[in-house]
Amino acid sequence: MPDCASARSRYDDAMSDGYRQLLDATIQHLEGLKSRGVRHVAVAPETLRALAQPPVRIQNPESRIQNERIFATPPPKIEPTLSLPPGKTAAPALKPRTPDPGPRPPITSASPEKAAAYAALRGNVLACVKCPHLAASRTSVVFGVGSIDAQLVFVGEAPGADEDEQGEPFVGRAGQLLTKIIETAGLKRGDVYIANILKCRPDTPGQAAGNRPPTPEERAACLPYLQEQIDLIKPRAIVALGATAVDGLLGKTLGITRLRGHWQTYRGIPLMPTYHPAYLLRNQSLSEKRKVWEDILKVMEKLELPVSEKQRNFFLPA
Ligand code: URA
Repeated sequence: MPDCASARSRYDDAMSDGYRQLLDATIQHLEGLKSRGVRHVAVAPETLRALAQPPVRIQNPESRIQNERIFATPPPKIEPTLSLPPGKTAAPALKPRTPDPGPRPPITSASPEKAAAYAALRGNVLACVKCPHLAASRTSVVFGVGSIDAQLVFVGEAPGADEDEQGEPFVGRAGQLLTKIIETAGLKRGDVYIANILKCRPDTPGQAAGNRPPTPEERAACLPYLQEQIDLIKPRAIVALGATAVDGLLGKTLGITRLRGHWQTYRGIPLMPTYHPAYLLRNQSLSEKRKVWEDILKVMEKLELPVSEKQRNFFLPA
């Protein structure tokens, strides 16, 4: 095994603080293995190839969300809707990186082994090139955010443009609504863990804007990462946001309308399917908000979180 200390000094100057934290945790993990007599570790050829590339800049501005009205939805962002003529591609092969907005909070856990294993997994995923088209079009790999000791994990579909830009899941309009839902439940974003089925933004070649759902191949390539995240975090409950998250985790298509509000199980963990916040942005009726809120109330009860009378009655008709 190479000398870890010299590897650290060689890379120190080139790395962002976030990357350095990741590297430190990985080195800590490797040193732990070394002290237990391990002399070799298996590394996939594609990981070695990716490690030979310049370091990834980790981006994570803390999103400052104004606590406005309960579930009040943010105004739509004006996005270009221009479609390019057939045959023209809007996205360049490799996108320019956005400036690094600063260090991420360190990965902390009651268990240092858990923190190190998480950092090692994250390092692998940040270097993933299993879907070459997504590796070429992405600005960031959007791994996940929040507490790795969280009791509650939210799973969404895939990063959108804002998430790809900032390297953090659920920071766009749907994300702001998810943050409000979390806060309405009496929690903070940092109390839970948030991730997606897909870690890269699904590319949309030939389109200047818009999103698309992950393909079955992309989903299959990425799902093992989410499974490892969840196995490490060991939450007491999972909320699957929307059909892609529900189908991806349960491995079958049962229909979100039928499933929402009914407890399912993912690898022994209670899983609550509910509508994606983007659906609530499109359909702002009280009745749909109430459905999602009832699903969250069930999750709060499962986690034995306090539920006030006021919380219980949110979004009921007057
Ligand atoms: N929608 C998702 O499903 N995930 C995100 O991270 C953002 C929007």
